[in-house]
Amino acid sequence: QEQSKKQFTDGMELITKFYHYLLGSAKFGTAGMNYLKERDFNSEMIDRFRIGYAVNSWDAVTSLLQRRNVSMEQMEKAGLIAKRGFDHKYFDRFRNRIIFPIFNMRGQTVAFGGRTLGEEKPKYLNTPESQIFHKGKILYGYHLARQSIRKSNQVVLLEGYVDVVRAHQIGVTHSVASMGTSLTEDQAAALSRMADTIIICYDSDLAGIEASFRAAGMLQGDGKVVKIAKMPEGYDPDDYIRKFGGERFKSDVIGASQTLMTFKMGYFRRKRNLSDEGDRLLYIEDILKEIVTLKRAVERDHYLRLLAEEFSISLDALKRQETQLYKASK
Ligand code: CTP
Ligand code: MN
Ligand code: MN
Ligand code: MN
Ligand code: MN
Repeated sequence: QEQSKKQFTDGMELITKFYHYLLGSAKFGTAGMNYLKERDFNSEMIDRFRIGYAVNSWDAVTSLLQRRNVSMEQMEKAGLIAKRGFDHKYFDRFRNRIIFPIFNMRGQTVAFGGRTLGEEKPKYLNTPESQIFHKGKILYGYHLARQSIRKSNQVVLLEGYVDVVRAHQIGVTHSVASMGTSLTEDQAAALSRMADTIIICYDSDLAGIEASFRAAGMLQGDGKVVKIAKMPEGYDPDDYIRKFGGERFKSDVIGASQTLMTFKMGYFRRKRNLSDEGDRLLYIEDILKEIVTLKRAVERDHYLRLLAEEFSISLDALKRQETQLYKASK
């Protein structure tokens, strides 16, 4: 067991080095390197995240593993190679892709994500879950973000690999990614242990916005400040930073992040036409429904007051309706 674990980590380390070497090689890595340079990634980040390139070959990794006597069965399970049906020969699963090693807390590679250079599907190919790799337990980039998270008592949660690399490149080094929008309970628990303030900055598309509401709900707890950062529709952190720059990202996105309720108020407001009386009532109901879900009485009170002020309605009436909704939800 222990020995097989060691073999696994050694194998993953060897492959990490190999892909990273290929990327840097003038002979093999040009396509990958050009792609990354096009996207403005600097070599410091490429090294820090140990980004690599899988050449367009069926047996680059396979023959490396054979030469180095690594257990082929183990690397097949780890998802780096697969077996052909007709002659049972191994072949490389990652071909012509940018490789993001996925690290555990100690910085050891436990999995890989590979991005196509073009528009082929799937955009990202990931190695599967294994005894060593549980995707739902890992936050991408954590071992590189840990110090900065501790120092700032803040963690920024992003969606993707490139978002994390980009954020680190502009100095937002307390960033990690859930690797997609479905934050797991394990990831949420880990985030809550890391810092008192959690800022969610998922992609600004429908999937991302809905996922940030869900994530914020999971993260909310005693003594935690959970905030959502807002970007113009259609942007993700990487897009935003490339378009508007790192300083704007820090001040206008991370710096302007809002609590869940404020964020939702803005979101619902945009969906309704508040100069219309009917819409106004619907909006108030949207918000009351949200207020009802808040765990702490002080918080409920705070937002009821805001709502009462905004629409000059009596706080009493709002409270009565809130109580009704609360009872109905039980
Ligand atoms: N993801 C994945 N498999 C996919 C699509 C997405 O594992 N087929 C994960 C990856 O971790 C990815 C993240 O979800 O980084 C966010 O996906 P998406 O927003 O689609 O990609 P980006 O990170 O924006 O990548 P890029 O900028 O290269 O398009
Ligand atoms: Mn290097
Ligand atoms: Mn996305
Ligand atoms: Mn994205
Ligand atoms: Mn992107």
